[in-house]
Amino acid sequence: MKPLVVANWKMNPETLEKAKLLFGSIKKGTERVKGVEVAVCPPFVYLLSFRSQSPNLKLGAQDCFWEEKGAFTGEISLRMLKNLGCSYVIIGHSERRRYLKETEEMINQKIKAVLKEKLTPILCVENLFQAKKDLKGVSDKEFRNLILAYEPVFAIGTGKPCSIAKAKQMRNSLAGFSRVLYGGSVNSRNARDYIKKAGFQGLLIGGASLNPQEFIATVKTLI
Ligand code: PGA
Repeated sequence: MKPLVVANWKMNPETLEKAKLLFGSIKKGTERVKGVEVAVCPPFVYLLSFRSQSPNLKLGAQDCFWEEKGAFTGEISLRMLKNLGCSYVIIGHSERRRYLKETEEMINQKIKAVLKEKLTPILCVENLFQAKKDLKGVSDKEFRNLILAYEPVFAIGTGKPCSIAKAKQMRNSLAGFSRVLYGGSVNSRNARDYIKKAGFQGLLIGGASLNPQEFIATVKTLI
């Protein structure tokens, strides 16, 4: 299985022009990289501009709503995301749990909705206990279609990545999941060790995904 590297741009950049430049650089820099799958998750408002993906570069969203349509002001449905060419949807990021007060019930509904729409959820968790609560009622068969991301809060955006030993221990505790990404202060210097030494199947990258040279270099360390 190819490692998957997901760029989580969060609430960046501030203009469409900058977003197009960033996306263009990432697309160009990764299109000949055969051994790694890359996905970019921009803010919703830029998704429409990035529909033409290369086979190696997929599109994802940073969140979604669980209802199919209707009176839900400000929300974005999965059908809308699918129609814009999204393959992945990040769910339960710690920033949403913290600032938007997303609960495990909300996250659970979102996961089920993503699976129902046949998109791939990337569920962000801090540990197995949280994953189990978020995935209540999700069948074993559906487990195969989801990706987990182990994201220790202390490592997110802090420049203090999780040690490889601790990350490996966490990956082992999540043994029931076939595809687990590591996220938290990943860069071109530490990326390879999370895959080769700690046993993860990919990476979720925030800060370093906003710098195209650094992001491309990070992807290339996995070849
Ligand atoms: P970071 O963010 O790479 O900036 O630490 C990771 C994430 O929040 O997914």
